[in-house]
Amino acid sequence: MMIIVTGTPGTGKTTVTQLLADKIDAKLISINSLLENYDLNLGIDEVRGYKIVDTEKMIPIVDSIKDKYSDDLIIFEGHLAQDYPNADKVIVLRCDPKKLEMRLNTRDWPDRKVHENVSAEILGVCTSESYDTYGDIVQEVDTSNLTPDKVVDVLISIINDEKTYPLGEVDFLSEYFTYLD
Ligand SMILES: Nc1ncnc2c1ncn2[C@@H]1O[C@H](COP(=O)(O)OP(=O)(O)O)[C@@H](O)[C@H]1O
Ligand SMILES: [Mg+2]
Repeated sequence: MMIIVTGTPGTGKTTVTQLLADKIDAKLISINSLLENYDLNLGIDEVRGYKIVDTEKMIPIVDSIKDKYSDDLIIFEGHLAQDYPNADKVIVLRCDPKKLEMRLNTRDWPDRKVHENVSAEILGVCTSESYDTYGDIVQEVDTSNLTPDKVVDVLISIINDEKTYPLGEVDFLSEYFTYLD
């Protein structure tokens, strides 16, 4: 089984999936590690400032990892992981835009890049992209008031089908729409 964990940069994907993979002994792959190990980089997105992944090349590579580790639980982490269409579950990590902005401001990013990514979180861009590929199997977890360990517990409850976090419950737009321009 493969679980995608996606979300705007800074929402905690890397932190949480590392803890999760250790806790449940899952195989963890990140888009960033694929970018390092395979020739998948198509350049830089000028607006949001991230590497553009060659999705057509990525899909067969992730398919082969999925085949190779078919007996394992695989966590596939990255803010573009939803472009891969053959996972079993998709979880979007969400974070209060104000907290997210503070986190991204520690990254030495240009203001514009921070603003674009916070705007993307307000608009739910990762959620909407995930929905495009996966429809309403996508689940969303508001991590704003959870420690990384608590987020891990939530993810385990989703993986075990003990709880569901359906779309439509996280809304940052009504509070933060004035941030957008
Ligand atoms: N649930 C959380 N609560 C508080 N801080 C968090 C949480 N998850 C992640 N962080 C912190 O936020 C920052 C960004 O996390 P990171 O895992 O790098 O995000 P991503 O991989 O989504 O870009 C890190 O400094 C991390 O320690
Ligand atoms: Mg990360």
